[in-house]
Amino acid sequence: MTIILTIANEKGGVGKTTTAVNLAAGLALRLRDEAAPNNRVLLIDMDPQGHALLSAGYGTHTAPPAESLSALLTETPPPSIQRMLRVSQHHENLFFLPSNRASMVDAARVLPTLMANESRLQHAIQPVLNQFAFILIDTPPTTGDLLINALVASTHVLIPVETSYLGVSGLLELQRTIEEVRIHFRPSLKILGYLPTLCEEQRAETQDILIELQKRYPKQVLPPIHKSSDLAYAHSSHMDVFTYRPPRQRIANQIESSSRPTQEYASVVETIINTTR
Ligand SMILES: Nc1ncnc2c1ncn2[C@@H]1O[C@H](COP(=O)(O)OP(=O)(O)OP(=O)(O)O)[C@@H](O)[C@H]1O
Ligand SMILES: [Mg+2]
Repeated sequence: MTIILTIANEKGGVGKTTTAVNLAAGLALRLRDEAAPNNRVLLIDMDPQGHALLSAGYGTHTAPPAESLSALLTETPPPSIQRMLRVSQHHENLFFLPSNRASMVDAARVLPTLMANESRLQHAIQPVLNQFAFILIDTPPTTGDLLINALVASTHVLIPVETSYLGVSGLLELQRTIEEVRIHFRPSLKILGYLPTLCEEQRAETQDILIELQKRYPKQVLPPIHKSSDLAYAHSSHMDVFTYRPPRQRIANQIESSSRPTQEYASVVETIINTTR
């Protein structure tokens, strides 16, 4: 079964894109030696800003609207997704779908007027599901049809939580959205976990929020990601951290690295593999 994982939090700047990009790369690297299609990962960028695609080597160019994700969401019937798939620059088993900022903004606007507007992504990826072990979906920091489409298409959700400030009301709103998706579309949609991000050891708040998260979501808190300049530099160099700070060795398939964020995202990759398979 293909694991389809949406990375969501309606709060902005909590590390959604960083997490989507690095988990997609980490999974691709971790599964590299398995036989296709069990080693193939697809990264879908539902944020019109397209930041997740930068790390895949997509650059700043935009695809013609008819050959981009927005056409999959708005056209009836959708164009061929198979022909749209592209291989990322840094990992030969990591794929993405080209995007176009303006046409994604338009798609978000017109989706509410279209029939089956919540399940268009689910429908569009159907033909290629059996070609991927994992599909990761980055989402915009807003509630709307782009986020709903991601959730309806998904088997799991991962929620990055910034540990400098616990945005409680934002989390409750996302949980309500997830519950609505379960009731109307996907009864089996699971919260894979809450991922503490941007942790700073020196700050008292970080520790308090980690304890609070554990209390509120027992057994659902994933191994935390600390604030790290490697992640910021990797992002500005249009790379994932596994490419920017490559792992030194692999022991029994596990990724080992002296770079902290590489090791931390590798730990989340292991947790995802162990809890979804
Ligand atoms: N662990 C980290 N250490 C250092 N910088 C980080 C870390 N995580 C994210 N960042 C930086 O913080 C900024 C926001 O992160 P990111 O873009 O991943 O958040 P986001 O939730 O996707 O934001 P948006 O809601 O705007 O889409 C980026 O500049 C990113 O490089
Ligand atoms: Mg983002």
